[in-house]
Amino acid sequence: MASIQRELIEQVSSIVQSRLADQGAGHGFDHIQRVWKTGRKLQSMCGGDLLVIELAALLHDIGDAKFHDGKECSKQFSIEILNQLGVDEVTVNHVAQIVDNISFRKRASAESLSLEGQVVQDADRLDALGAVGIVRTIEFGAAFDQPFYDPNPVLSTGEPQKTGIGHFHEKLFKLRDLMNTDAGREMAKAREDFMRSFICQFELECTGEG
Ligand code: ADP
Ligand code: NI
Repeated sequence: MASIQRELIEQVSSIVQSRLADQGAGHGFDHIQRVWKTGRKLQSMCGGDLLVIELAALLHDIGDAKFHDGKECSKQFSIEILNQLGVDEVTVNHVAQIVDNISFRKRASAESLSLEGQVVQDADRLDALGAVGIVRTIEFGAAFDQPFYDPNPVLSTGEPQKTGIGHFHEKLFKLRDLMNTDAGREMAKAREDFMRSFICQFELECTGEG
């Protein structure tokens, strides 16, 4: 990659790092750095324009609705940042289209993704799996007052008690089948297997059998 492109990536990285400085672990710059690295790794196996992949990985959560009063602003912020840095229009539009269409929430209404978008989406989803996925789920529970495990997950109102382990089954174990790339699917399988063995051991210890 040309040094001018490397410099652009470094500029975007430091803007993203400072904008996310006060966002908690799991949704902060640590998540972005992992998605960025995994995106590069997947690109080395699947191809795609590396500059677009790196920029979209860095910017994909820049305006996460959770931190902007429920309004998803990532596309708008990405366009503003890239325009300020003088990035060409084709690249800006491509990155913005990826950022706007990769979230799990939007999957029913999302536009179809380019190879670069598929790589970034896989990288983002992989960060919800494996050891990191377990930690992020625990951190989410701690932040939103949700237990990781509840042997009797029913509230006094009769409503089901949401749990971290429940989230594994409701969402995270569905991600492997949603992977776009073969390399992403293979990594997802290894990470899901690790999570499943963690749950087995966790449950054995909870029931006194482990
Ligand atoms: P993304 O970074 O792709 O935007 P989300 O913001 O949806 O992903 O979720 C980030 C992480 O927070 C997930 O990987 C998961 O571990 C955790 N999380 C999200 N929703 C829940 C939930 N309802 N219960 C437990 N953990 C959750
Ligand atoms: Ni993300």
